[in-house]
Amino acid sequence: MDPIEVLSLDTEPRRPARTDYGIGIVGCGGIVNAAHLPAYRAAGLTIVGCFDVDPAAAEATAARFAIPRVYPSLDALLADEAVAIVDIAVPAWHQRAIAERALLAGKHLLCQKPLAETLDDALAIAHAGRRAGRHVAVNQQMRWSAGIAAARGLLRDGLIGTPTDVQLRVSVATPWHLWPWLRDAPRLDLMYHSIHYFDSIRAWLGDPQWVTSHHARFPDQPERAETKTLTVLEYESGLHALVAVNHHDHSGASIAEFRILGTAGAIEGTIGLLAEYPRARPDTLRFTSQRFVPHMWHAPTLTGLWLPDAFVGPMYGLMQAIDGGSPPETDALDHCQTLRVVHAAYRSAAERRSVALTELP
Ligand SMILES: NC(=O)c1ccc[n+]([C@@H]2O[C@H](COP(=O)([O-])OP(=O)(O)OC[C@H]3O[C@@H](n4cnc5c(N)ncnc54)[C@H](O)[C@@H]3O)[C@@H](O)[C@H]2O)c1
Repeated sequence: MDPIEVLSLDTEPRRPARTDYGIGIVGCGGIVNAAHLPAYRAAGLTIVGCFDVDPAAAEATAARFAIPRVYPSLDALLADEAVAIVDIAVPAWHQRAIAERALLAGKHLLCQKPLAETLDDALAIAHAGRRAGRHVAVNQQMRWSAGIAAARGLLRDGLIGTPTDVQLRVSVATPWHLWPWLRDAPRLDLMYHSIHYFDSIRAWLGDPQWVTSHHARFPDQPERAETKTLTVLEYESGLHALVAVNHHDHSGASIAEFRILGTAGAIEGTIGLLAEYPRARPDTLRFTSQRFVPHMWHAPTLTGLWLPDAFVGPMYGLMQAIDGGSPPETDALDHCQTLRVVHAAYRSAAERRSVALTELP
């Protein structure tokens, strides 16, 4: 029996019954052009219009993706009844003010990660959504990247028994110049990059109890904040998840991989996006399970890329929530748990100790 044929390794995001909600885009920068809009176009979603504080950015994006309206102001976008969902992709410190205005205008939101740099601001957005009776989803789309999604399915099926150890290792030369506003950010890797890994590990395994983290910089790096991090998420069961990230690997041979060991098998995968960023390859995955032939490895072929394909996942999740009434998978309050891991890691590094998630507000 071929396990790949009997297992459900369907990693495609589930398409909601209704996908014709009008979407208004706020912020027409790099990620919207490289990922949001290509993914939405492929899925046939309805983009009503866009707005950017830089009108040239909005005009260029509208021209590139044949978006019918360019709004002269945020208020004009929010006043448009055809916009049901506001999709925000601006630097995090601008997000709360935009989100609160959009909620007051009765819109549902898809916000970029991190929802905010402080937990207070992130919780304020989440609670404003609840008060307004509107859904706020966060764009934690790595969960829908094929390798992460396939591993999640295998874990859910109990294929490797009880997980005992996770190691996620990324050693790459990150082109930080693509995000000039991040160069001087006081917090870098965990807040803007490893947040994806913490969220994916939470999607696999739930919330850790303790977080321990160590941070360093590369000699003479232009970036102000941490670019090398080692973080351990510790679970009550004794399971450890190590996230080891280095953004200054100039060896010419990047590494971006994960390994999950369990009592009855193991899963290994690569993160295709980071192999030669920003040129992406598909993720890869292989697994072994005592449920089949012990020590025999199986490697299903995965399709779709983290960037842009996975970007439809959080948007579909939001549309399902609007349809069905229950919060989206990457609901703002759920995202606050991912943010607690981030903040616990910063506190751990600063105070050189393990930090319990319950220490965070
Ligand atoms: N994988 C991912 O999920 C991923 C990847 C990259 C960036 N991001 C996130 O997406 C967001 C945007 O990143 P980017 O790389 O596109 O940045 P960018 O600098 O390329 O684009 C940001 C755009 O927002 C506009 N903007 C700034 N303030 C605004 C405001 N108040 N109202 C309207 N427009 C405003 C800017 O003019 C710019 O065009 C950030 O929060 C970042 O963390 C997520």
